[in-house]
Amino acid sequence: MTIPLQMAPKDLVFQVSHNDSPMPAAERDAILADPPFGSVFTDHMVDICWSEKGGWHRPRVQPYGPIAMDPAAAVLHYGQEIFEGLKAYRHADGSIWSFRPDQNALRMQRSAKRMALPELPADYFLESLKQLIAVDGAWVPSAPEMSLYIRPYMYAKEAFLGVRAAKKVAFYIIAAPAGPYFSGGVKPVSIWLSTDYSRAGKGGTGQAKTGGNYAASLVAQAEAAEHGCAQVLFLDSVEGKYLEELGGMNIVLVYKDGRVVTPQSDTILQGITRDSILQLAEDAGHTVERRPVTLEEWRDGVESGDIVEAFACGTAAVVTPIGQLKSKDFTIGDLDQPAGPLTLALREKLTDIQYGRQPDPYGWMFRLDG
Ligand code: PLP
Ligand code: COI
Repeated sequence: MTIPLQMAPKDLVFQVSHNDSPMPAAERDAILADPPFGSVFTDHMVDICWSEKGGWHRPRVQPYGPIAMDPAAAVLHYGQEIFEGLKAYRHADGSIWSFRPDQNALRMQRSAKRMALPELPADYFLESLKQLIAVDGAWVPSAPEMSLYIRPYMYAKEAFLGVRAAKKVAFYIIAAPAGPYFSGGVKPVSIWLSTDYSRAGKGGTGQAKTGGNYAASLVAQAEAAEHGCAQVLFLDSVEGKYLEELGGMNIVLVYKDGRVVTPQSDTILQGITRDSILQLAEDAGHTVERRPVTLEEWRDGVESGDIVEAFACGTAAVVTPIGQLKSKDFTIGDLDQPAGPLTLALREKLTDIQYGRQPDPYGWMFRLDG
């Protein structure tokens, strides 16, 4: 993996305070055997402060625990916040790796720019991951298809009720062992088409990984759940005609002739998983199209038999087959049909690289321990 930015400055020395009462190993190992997604956290967390005057300073590793916050902290009022999501994978020899974390670092910088937050240098980001793994490496599961989900985030902590970019900011990293995001694992899921709600609008924050986009998706996600669907699909907010993305993952369609098609839009998250999957598909000889895709194209394609597979992809979702699309007016697809062969092949290719079962010709993996 190439790190395109400056080398870590000499003063990036983390002050490490160990947790005096970490979770007992037997309890931790029981969790690692079958972890839930995102509800049990490791023993430590990383934090780095930023101020307008002092820049990035005081990098620390400290015991995981509550954060003291002023009730006037700007994030609580105006939602000035961004986050990232990536995983640590344990390879057969015990080593610990992450997948394209440089891309998460760069995306976090893009999100920061949009949300008027300071950009964390990529080498601070990568060093923070290594620091957390240095103390919490035992939390990376070794069971197949399990991982440690890592959540870096940044928020406005200045106590100030005027509406402007905060002059004091905090960056944290927490981590949680993770099993499959969807309870059925790789079984096809059903998704709900949201026609009443948009996730993001033209000129808005759709491309940024910021909490507000997810808050905006929650009522639509609840509607999906009411209809027995695992995720919600959003259309563009201008014409309500083009596919955008799901609440927490990107979408890809597969044509009978082998083409792999995904929505191009400047109001969705530029997924790192999707980017990687498309690279794998292209290198396996598939034509990849990144372009606007209408809902009508999907419906007609399924009806005519031209579109043969659809899947969701993202760090949490990995690659999950979509069996069915439901809406107020129609249902397409069949939940009982098995996952598509290309969906499964791409999933396997990706996870083989992530878990070190196959070589990594792209230089995507970055070692976090040692
Ligand atoms: N779209 C949304 C809204 C997401 O939350 C995610 C997950 O992070 C993705 C797409 C996929 O992005 P990535 O593959 O980088 O995890
Ligand atoms: C991720 O995949 O990292 C996300 O942020 C999506 C969320 C559904 C957990």
